[in-house]
Amino acid sequence: MPHSAVLNVMIKAAFRAGRSLKRDLGEVENLQVSLKGPRNFVTAADRRAEEIVRGELAKARPDYGFLGEEGGARPGADKSHRWIVDPLDGTTNFLHGIPHFAVSIALERNGVVVAGLVYNPANDELFIAERGKGAFLNDQRIRVAARTRLADAIVACGLPHYGRGDLARARSEIAAAQRHFAGLRRFGAASLDLAWVAAGRFDVYWERDLSPWDLAAGTLIVREAGGFVSDLDGEDAIFAKGEVAAGNETMHRELLRLLKEAGKAAAREAETA
Ligand code: IPD
Ligand code: CA
Ligand code: CA
Repeated sequence: MPHSAVLNVMIKAAFRAGRSLKRDLGEVENLQVSLKGPRNFVTAADRRAEEIVRGELAKARPDYGFLGEEGGARPGADKSHRWIVDPLDGTTNFLHGIPHFAVSIALERNGVVVAGLVYNPANDELFIAERGKGAFLNDQRIRVAARTRLADAIVACGLPHYGRGDLARARSEIAAAQRHFAGLRRFGAASLDLAWVAAGRFDVYWERDLSPWDLAAGTLIVREAGGFVSDLDGEDAIFAKGEVAAGNETMHRELLRLLKEAGKAAAREAETA
């Protein structure tokens, strides 16, 4: 399938970084048995991947700004364009040799994400979308799932990290999800969670405490696959609040309703405790 010039640039960068990550994953597997473990090696692999992505993107579009998880913000001469990059989303998976991680690249124009890519080098799945042009997995058109019964649906989520987040609220939300959905998953790479909603594998997904680089590409891919995406109040402050809910129209609405109830229940419990 022919791609636009900008997607070609993004794909080339993702494939190069992906090759590097795939090589490094082999080493990570060897390091599992060492006492020190692969942590330092993974930090270096992560930085290496970001440098590869940044280098490739800068070669093609030298004036664009860049926001990367590792290197932070680097403003460009062109103030209207900015890349938003997570070179390795799913670091904990990668660190443990679990082949579920991705390179995530988005292009923002005047504050609006216009192109997004999520690439899992471990199984060569490439999710792409451009605003107004649909979403694709390995060049096949994808759509969000059509299911409308919660009892048939799989919901994906994030869990507060060690030592972070509101654990009582998370437990209450998870309990609500368990009561209503067919299955609950926590796979550990936000960009892929979104891409999998777009591909109809997950029916719906929510998570908090995320950053723009986790969300920028995946949210466009879901929207271009016909899905609904919002923050957890049903509004559009996804990046500002660092939270997201995504699914088809019914699933998205029902999930927001359940989460709201679960939040109130957790607050009531905290008051009476
Ligand atoms: C993380 C992953 C994970 C999510 C975390 C993110 P990282 O990104 O997307 O699924 O639960 O909150 O920070 O650190 O692996 O790039
Ligand atoms: Ca991430
Ligand atoms: Ca990362």
